[in-house]
Amino acid sequence: MTVIRVNDLRKRFVLKDMSVNALDGVSFSVEEGEMIAITGPSGSGKTTLLNIIGLLDSRDSGEFELFGEPVDFSKDSRNASIRNNRIGFVFQDYSLMPNENAIFNVMLPLFFTKLPIGKMRKKAVEALRKVGFPETHIKNKVKLLSGGQKQRVAIARALANDPDIILADEPTGALDSDSSKAVMDLLKSLNADGKTVIVITHDPIVAESCKRIIKLADGKII
Ligand SMILES: Nc1ncnc2c1ncn2[C@@H]1O[C@H](COP(=O)(O)OP(=O)(O)OP(=O)(O)O)[C@@H](O)[C@H]1O
Ligand SMILES: [Mg+2]
Repeated sequence: MTVIRVNDLRKRFVLKDMSVNALDGVSFSVEEGEMIAITGPSGSGKTTLLNIIGLLDSRDSGEFELFGEPVDFSKDSRNASIRNNRIGFVFQDYSLMPNENAIFNVMLPLFFTKLPIGKMRKKAVEALRKVGFPETHIKNKVKLLSGGQKQRVAIARALANDPDIILADEPTGALDSDSSKAVMDLLKSLNADGKTVIVITHDPIVAESCKRIIKLADGKII
């Protein structure tokens, strides 16, 4: 099954007298269970593309089908529900709440569900266990964790809802090579479990470890 299909996707940002074609006619599709790297220089449109695929941002023009259905960007609550239930995000800067502990951070996306709080907690602890987060640090404030530990919390949070697609923006960008390998091994094992994974990366080793590489330059696939 094709989970993502975009055709001639365009997005322009306008700032005062300057404008940037962040996406300048991007077309590709992704099959269920694929693991794809998106690479390209800084400013080439990688994050913009991932944000649109993850329904965090709109596009100016172009077709976009998610899970076999055309996305209607005007349907905010429907799109939010798809995003919360079927897509897991790992952001470029982790986007964790530094003064809360790991469990609370992983529970955040679950607050949109109607689960009782005890169940949310249980799911959060399970997700943290799955990513190999050290149990002894589970109640520490996130700001006291190492980069690799923070990234595990971010991945656990992306997993908490058992999404179909995981979108990760530079998940290894701030990590040393050992932690970077551990995070990639984790994403690969999630992919082996059947999840579709898309990873933005600058690191050729990370990119080569994915099954397919999409290269962007100036908002175009090259
Ligand atoms: N919200 C915004 N407002 C204005 N311009 C933006 C906005 N978001 C992105 N851009 C511009 O669009 C272009 C693509 O940005 P994007 O963040 O997608 O790049 P990227 O490939 O993810 O880069 P990096 O590797 O540095 O994260 C850049 O020129 C950027 O300055
Ligand atoms: Mg980016």
